This record gives sequence, C-alpha cells and structure tokens, in this order.
Amino acid sequence: MAKSIPPQEQQEPSSTKAPAAAGSAAPEQEYTLAVQRQDALEKPETRRVDELRVRCSPGTSVLGALKLEREARDGSTSKSGGSVAWEGDCFDGSCGGCSMLIQGKVALACSVPVAKAADKDQRVRLAPMRHFPLVRDLVVDRSRVQRLLSLVPLQGPRTAGAPVQSETPSAIHALELARLDQCNRCGACLEACPQYGVHSEFVGALTLHEAHLRNSTPSGRHQRTERLEAMMAPGGVNSCGKAQNCVEVCPAQLPLVDSIQSVARATTKHMLLGWLFK
Ligand code: SF4
Ligand code: FES
Repeated sequence: MAKSIPPQEQQEPSSTKAPAAAGSAAPEQEYTLAVQRQDALEKPETRRVDELRVRCSPGTSVLGALKLEREARDGSTSKSGGSVAWEGDCFDGSCGGCSMLIQGKVALACSVPVAKAADKDQRVRLAPMRHFPLVRDLVVDRSRVQRLLSLVPLQGPRTAGAPVQSETPSAIHALELARLDQCNRCGACLEACPQYGVHSEFVGALTLHEAHLRNSTPSGRHQRTERLEAMMAPGGVNSCGKAQNCVEVCPAQLPLVDSIQSVARATTKHMLLGWLFK
C-alpha cells in the first residue's frame, strides 16, 4: 500500500538500496541529466534547466544517477548545498515517490535505466509532473492522490445486518485481488490523463480502480452501493474520456481500463435498477 514519502530534501534514501551497482559490470559512461528546476511554485522566475553530468553504469536507474550526482557534488549524502530536490526512497518501485517526466513521459525514475532513457547524446531530460502542484525541482505535492481516494468510500464500518458468511475468497480470487492491490499512489495515471488537471474534478483511474477492487472483495461488498453512487457523482466514472493513457503508464501494470469499464457497467446497472424500483 502507499506510504507518504517526504521530499528528498528531508529524507535520505537508503544508499544500500540504490540501484547504482545493478549494472556495475558494464563500463561506466558519462550522462547529462538536464533537470528542470524551480525553487518553489510561487517563484516561477527561478525556473531554469541545470545540466548535471554523472558517470555511471548504463544499468543505473535515473534516480540512482541523480543520487550519484548529488553525492559527487556534495561529497556526501547530505542534503546541504544546492542539490536538485527529488523524492523517493525505496528504489524498487514500491513507494511511488519518484514519479516524474523522463524525456517528457511520466515514469518512475527508479525503474528506468539511464541508458534506456538517454538520447543519442547521452542526455536525459527530467521535469516534475505537471498535474500536481510543484514543491521544488522534481518534487510535487501528491497529496491530491489521497484526497481523491477519500472521495470514495473505500472502507468503513460494516452496516448492521450485512452478511458475514462467504467472506473468505477462494485461493485464486485472493491471488487476483492481491495482484490488483498493487497501486503505489505514484500519480502517473493522473499525470497522463487528458481529463485530469490541477483544477479537474475527475477522480481519475486510480480511484475508479480502487472502487472496483474494494467492490470485488468479500469484506468490501457491503459498501458497494455507496461506492457506486459516489462514482456516479460529477467527476466520477462518466468523466472518463477513454483515452486509455493511464494503463500505458501505470508502473504496477494494473488493468485500469478494465476496472473503469467494470465500474461504468455497474453504475449503469445500478441506475437502471434504481429507476425500475422507484
Ligand atoms: S493506478 Fe498505477 S499509475 Fe495510478 S497511482 Fe496507482 S500505480 Fe500509479
Ligand atoms: S523510489 Fe520508490 S517508487 Fe521509485
């Protein structure tokens, strides 16, 4: 499940987990990280691109390259000096903190090898996500993800009289539910969605997926109606433009389009039944 990751300025990643050594057998090369920087959202005049040079093996992740560059610049892993601010500390794709634009496309920086991202001049353009308020440099405020999820009843007290039997999913169903429950709250699906922006009310693919997931679990079905009605509200499932960009960028490879379609079918059925039994 998601966890809140403080900006890199505040918390050092574990150097033991950095993937810098992953491709250490390959000869090192010099790469240029062209980082779009800005000191704060309210300081647009500080926006610039800094070109950072780093030597590393081709298998080093983009995030690992950023970490190596900062260590080389600072001579340590401290946060002092004018280092680029970035976020993420797991280096294995699970915390969701390092989502950013790499060569203009959203991805987890810890999951993309620098050699794969680099252009023919060994240059990698990095920028913060645009659908979230900027904090500094490559760090954005992703608290909107949790706010969106809170729009949907994802868990709550069991309603009185709700059935308690058949709550244990079959082994296969449990495996499938576990596979679906891998969202790391990275926000990439919102960044890639043309329906979503800083002022959009669309709840986004991750929220619709979560609603679908909770509606599929035996222990979550008692709130199914509540969730469907929340997803029928303005900004809900009908706001999806079906661009399907979300599923292309989801690092957890979640079947987001299937989830959205499932919620759409369920809300339509719920609406029709509501009319019939008025
Ligand atoms: S659904 Fe996928 S892209 Fe969206 S926040 Fe979750 S892991 Fe990231
Ligand atoms: S550092 Fe955690 S997802 Fe990239």
